[in-house]
Amino acid sequence: MTATKDMRVLVVGATGALGGEIARELAARGSRVAVSGRSAERTASLAADLGVPAIPADLRSPGAPEWVVREAASHLGGLDAVVQCAGVVAYGPVHDLTDETLVELVETNLLAPARLARAALGELGRGGTIVQVSAIVADMPVAGMAAYSASKAGLTAVDRALAREARRDGVRVVDVRPPHLDTGLETRPIAGEPPKLPPGRDVREVAHLIVDALGDERAREVDFG
Ligand SMILES: NC(=O)c1ccc[n+]([C@@H]2O[C@H](COP(=O)([O-])OP(=O)(O)OC[C@H]3O[C@@H](n4cnc5c(N)ncnc54)[C@H](OP(=O)(O)O)[C@@H]3O)[C@@H](O)[C@H]2O)c1
Repeated sequence: MTATKDMRVLVVGATGALGGEIARELAARGSRVAVSGRSAERTASLAADLGVPAIPADLRSPGAPEWVVREAASHLGGLDAVVQCAGVVAYGPVHDLTDETLVELVETNLLAPARLARAALGELGRGGTIVQVSAIVADMPVAGMAAYSASKAGLTAVDRALAREARRDGVRVVDVRPPHLDTGLETRPIAGEPPKLPPGRDVREVAHLIVDALGDERAREVDFG
């Protein structure tokens, strides 16, 4: 029996490497999961593997974050937690950043997670949890990653303020700022070429740490050592 057993959890970004590991680990620990990703095909395939509801959506579409939360609550008969792992990365100096890249980063990494959290507040009762996957660059911006770092710093600021606001309603916010992971994200940038990166941390190990934090009512962050 673990703290996440029977927990009703929406995993957003579940078609990604980290989100997929988190969804599988939660299912293995007995949580009741609903999965959401941008690709309808990959969302359906993961959902079929796990035997859970699929809620595909492009989070940049108007109303999509709110719809995803409503659908998950409707499928699971309520929600105990939302784990938000969707995100995109872009590289290159500020001089070369296009408006299109800036807008996609901010919409995906900051606005959509903020809208998801806002919608989740309407569904989570006392004891509910919102886990947001930000990134280490929120605290330590990196040259060649200004816009990504800024989008994640914005998300972490939302998380830290929301954590204080939501405490009185008994809702916990966990802001997760992983280091570089071995998910291959740097091979899928929406723009630019990655700078030299350190070896990536093992995604399964990091997913386990995040699920542990979800099950630990004292956790507000995850210590990556
Ligand atoms: N990998 C790292 O080194 C690292 C380090 C720190 C933090 N992070 C953060 O961890 C999270 C997961 O990263 P990852 O490495 O697992 O990346 P990934 O494998 O590329 O997964 C990204 C996820 O975001 C989803 N997504 C992107 N744009 C979307 C949109 N407009 N609407 C809905 N979903 C969208 C993707 O959906 P589809 O695949 O269905 O399109 C996918 O599920 C991201 O927030 C990332 O910034 C990663």
